[in-house]
Amino acid sequence: MRLDRPVVFGNWKMNGLRAEGLALAGALAERAVRLTGTLGIFPPFTLIHAVAQRVKDTAILVGGQDCHERASGAFTGCVSAPMLADAGAKAVILGHSERRHGFGETDALIRAKFRAARAAGLLVVLCIGETEAEYLAGERRSRLVAQLAGSLPEGIGPEGLVVAYEPVWAIGTGRTPSSDEIRAIHGELRALLAKRIVGGEAVPLLYGGSVKPENAAEIMALSDVDGVLVGGASLDARSFWSIYRAGGGA
Ligand code: PGA
Repeated sequence: MRLDRPVVFGNWKMNGLRAEGLALAGALAERAVRLTGTLGIFPPFTLIHAVAQRVKDTAILVGGQDCHERASGAFTGCVSAPMLADAGAKAVILGHSERRHGFGETDALIRAKFRAARAAGLLVVLCIGETEAEYLAGERRSRLVAQLAGSLPEGIGPEGLVVAYEPVWAIGTGRTPSSDEIRAIHGELRALLAKRIVGGEAVPLLYGGSVKPENAAEIMALSDVDGVLVGGASLDARSFWSIYRAGGGA
C-alpha cells in the first residue's frame, strides 16, 4: 500500500452511531474521490463495514482501532484481524495509549496483535508515547525506545507500518509538545527505526495529541513528521479536512 504524504488518520474512538458515522464518512467522501496524500478513518467496529461501503469509490482508507491477537476462538467480546479485513478494513491502530493504560495492554500483547494484523494483510498504525510522569522524570526517550523494541515483531519490513508518536499527556488535553520537541523526537524515532528495520527510515511517522486545524500546518511542516493521528478533531468533517489540507494534501 502506497502512503503518500501527508498521512492524516482520524481515530473516532467510541463515538458514532450509524447515522452520524455515515454522515461524517459521506461528507469526507465528497471531498476525497482522489487524493494527493493519504486520508484514513478509524470508526468503531460496529461501523467499519457500513463506512467502508460508503467510501468505497474514494481514496479514503478505513481501519479498526484494535484487534485480538488470535484469528478466531473463544474470546467473548473480541474482534480479530481477519474479521476487520473481512468487514472492509485495510488498517488497524495498535497500542493506542487508551488501550495501553485503560486496558493494561503490554508491549508483548501489542507485538502479538501486530503479527495477527500483518497475517491478515492489515496496515499497522503502531502508537507509542510517554506519560506525563515519565516526561517529567526525563524518561521519555527510554520509554519510547522500550515501546518500539517491545512491540515491533522481529524480522518485519517497513511496508505496512506507520508509527504514531502520541505523548499521553497531549491526548485530548489541548496541550502539545513544542515544535522543537516534536522535531527532535521524530528525528530520533526515524534513526531508531532505520537501525531496527531494513529500510525503516521510510516508515511514515505521525504525531498525535491535540492536533487541530490551528496547529496542524506547523506540526506537519516539521522535518520527520509525515502526518498526524487525530482524535477529537476528526469527528468533524470540516476540521478533519482542513487538517489534511494544512499538511499540503489536496
Ligand atoms: P486527540 O486524540 O486528537 O483528541 O488529542 C489523539 C489520539 O488519541 O489519537
